[in-house]
Parts: sequence; structure tokens; C-alpha cells
Amino acid sequence: MWDQELDIATLAAREAGAVLRKRFGQAHQIMKKGEIDLVTEADLKSESLILEIISSHFPGDNILSEETGDKNKRSARTWIVDPLDGTTNFAHGFPFFCVSIALEVDQKLVVGAVYNPYIDELFQAAGGRGATLNGQPIRVSTTENIGDALLATGFPYDIHQRSDDVLDLFRKMVLVAQGVRRAGSAALDLCYVAAGRLDGFWEQSLKPWDTAAGCVILKEAGGILSTYSGYAYSPYENTIVGSNPLLFPQILAITKTAARLT
Ligand code: IPD
Ligand code: CA
Ligand code: CA
Repeated sequence: MWDQELDIATLAAREAGAVLRKRFGQAHQIMKKGEIDLVTEADLKSESLILEIISSHFPGDNILSEETGDKNKRSARTWIVDPLDGTTNFAHGFPFFCVSIALEVDQKLVVGAVYNPYIDELFQAAGGRGATLNGQPIRVSTTENIGDALLATGFPYDIHQRSDDVLDLFRKMVLVAQGVRRAGSAALDLCYVAAGRLDGFWEQSLKPWDTAAGCVILKEAGGILSTYSGYAYSPYENTIVGSNPLLFPQILAITKTAARLT
């Protein structure tokens, strides 16, 4: 099940990734969607290519994509697309970015493909079939204690306006974890947790296209996801926590102290 959908998500992620790889390191047309929220010509080129590929194969499906918005065809199937996750990195020549494509059917995430074209790493998953990195099965880490854990997070684009809750939680995690990384691509962060390179992740104010594909991949790799309060996660929620099952209660105990603020 989902073979064709996973193949098309993968094809679109690879083709769009090739566009990003070609443009990486060159001068970009940078436009601002907010004070520190950028979009480049590469985001737009990548997105139009992905939309073309998906709609030519599945013309009746909805598509929710970051730059174009919602193409609602009243289908039970919605493709959720981030054509370039890590735009700030990309614009600065910092090589940590990806294409992220997911399929949601009847409000359930069933397919995810995340492609980092710079180092040619493809993360894939489909409901009930496990997750892979370049075709090899991946699994979450077995780190049990937060003091031994490498965690990741990110900061929302309105951080200049409202930093207290975000930095308060960041401070709490930094003081107990072995390390905390803030690399600038939520989709890759989730895939890194899935592959056991990171042990856990938390962030707030993300959008469906930032997390949808990474969520399928993390779940299929044995990870657990919830909101800061511990409720079931959907990509339409405002907060996310993801980790291996052993560590999850310890991370959640800390995010719960911030949940009332978000
Ligand atoms: C961003 C990245 C980043 C996260 C931001 C996202 P974009 O996506 O995922 O890691 O901290 O909140 O918006 O704008 O590069 O597609
Ligand atoms: Ca994004
Ligand atoms: Ca983006």
C-alpha cells in the first residue's frame, strides 16, 4: 500500500532537490515574508516543480504548500509540501536544508519523503512499513537519560516579538541535556531523531509543511510524538515534542512546564 504515492513523493523531492542543489551557493533573490522570514527564488522554483509533478499524477488531490497555500479540491487526500525547509540556511550558504513532502489521507499521515540534496540523503516512510535512509532501515536511538541526550529545537520567526517562553524552555533543556542543537530545518531535525542521530526534538509555532513528512518518518522509525502538553500530535498543532520512547517522558515533563504559555 502507498507504493505509488511514495514513489511520486520521492520523485518530486529528488527533482526539486536537484533545483536547490544547483542554486545553492549562488546569489539569490531574497524576499521577506516577515522581519526574519525569508523566501528565495529557489523556494518558488522548487515548489512549482513539486506541484506540477504531484498534480499531474494525482489531479484530484488537495495540495497544501508553503508558498502557494491551499489547493483544496475537497478530496480526502492532501499533499503537504515544504519546497525548501531551511530557507535561512540556504540563503546564507549553510548546507542544512531539504525538501519535505507528505501525504495525509482522512486526516492520517501515511507517506513522508524528506530529501537533503546537498549530501544526497533521502528519508522515506509509509504507514506501517518502517522508515529508511537511502534505502536502509532506520530506528530511533536507545538513549534513556536526558543527561546523555543530544536534543534539537528551533525558534519561531516572531522570536523578536515574543522570546520569553521560547528561551525559558530552551534554558531548561540546555541545563539538563548533554547537548542541544538548533540547526534550522525542522524536517531534518525530525528525520535525525528517526535515524538516532538526535535523541529528541521540541519546537513551537511550526506549520504543517515543516513537520508532516518528518512525523511519518519518525513514527515509522519507532519514535513518539505529542504536543507540549502530551496530547496526540497532528501537524496542525502549535507545539511538538518527538523522541525515542525511553526518553519521551523526561522531555515531556519539561515541555509541560511551558505548555500553559503556548
Ligand atoms: C523553518 C525551519 C526552522 C524552524 C522554523 C521553520 P523554513 O522553515 O524548519 O528549523 O525553526 O520555524 O519555519 O521557513 O525554512 O521553511
Ligand atoms: Ca519549513
Ligand atoms: Ca520553507
